[in-house]
Amino acid sequence: MAAKDIQQVTPEHVAIIMDGNGRWATRRGMPRLYGHRSGARRVREVVRACPDLGVRYLTLYAFSTENWKRAPTEVEGLMALFHRYITSETTELIDSGVRVRFIGDRTKLDPKLVSLMTQLEADTKPNDLLHLTIALNYGARDEIVRASARMAEAVRSGCLLPDDIDGDTICGYLDTADLPDPDLVIRTSGETRVSNFLLWQSAYAEYAFTPVLWPDFTAADFGEILLSYGARERRYGAVAQ
Ligand code: IPE
Ligand code: IPE
Ligand code: MG
Repeated sequence: MAAKDIQQVTPEHVAIIMDGNGRWATRRGMPRLYGHRSGARRVREVVRACPDLGVRYLTLYAFSTENWKRAPTEVEGLMALFHRYITSETTELIDSGVRVRFIGDRTKLDPKLVSLMTQLEADTKPNDLLHLTIALNYGARDEIVRASARMAEAVRSGCLLPDDIDGDTICGYLDTADLPDPDLVIRTSGETRVSNFLLWQSAYAEYAFTPVLWPDFTAADFGEILLSYGARERRYGAVAQ
């Protein structure tokens, strides 16, 4: 690993586990969906802050493969919120140079939502200022299972030889095939677990955990975490320089 990799200051790719919406609402005596709506406003703020902070890739965990276990009203409310977010943000995202991608299993989502997602990806494809990836019905184990099945299919059809499979081959079959690995993974709300997020891709990511609940997380909080990242030394298994 070259010295320049060890001394990286601004993370190129930040991934965020946006957690704490429910608790934020409950503390105010409000329904959980009120917290999700407030959380969506923070998404806008953090996305807008990225170019100035020097972040080129931002990946946000919006809905996990495990979140279907929640009450149907909450799940439906979240799906409606994703629908609304895409519709209301499209113009700003296109105009501000943000390229949007979605990762996760789309086959279980409402086709109307999927077509909005596909359209937003197409509309923002020429953009390059910020690469925003939204993980929706995403689970890292599910992603690895789907990638493995497609790899097995490629072997069966003779397009891929088992001896040729290496780490890069696997990266190429993941939903994140076009993206660099995250440098920094942030989780809000005080929980210190990964909850099935980017397990393969975060092998050498730095982690930052903050007690701030997602609807309270400001661009200033984001900037502070990025500063603390700058003081870390990433060694990738090598000896400190
Ligand atoms: C994160 O907030 C949003 C989603 C998981 C969709 P939560 O809804 O998990 O909030 P808490 O953890 O219950 O406070
Ligand atoms: C992780 O948060 C998923 C998202 C932020 C979308 P959860 O609230 O679902 O995670 P657990 O259940 O506390 O592990
Ligand atoms: Mg939670």
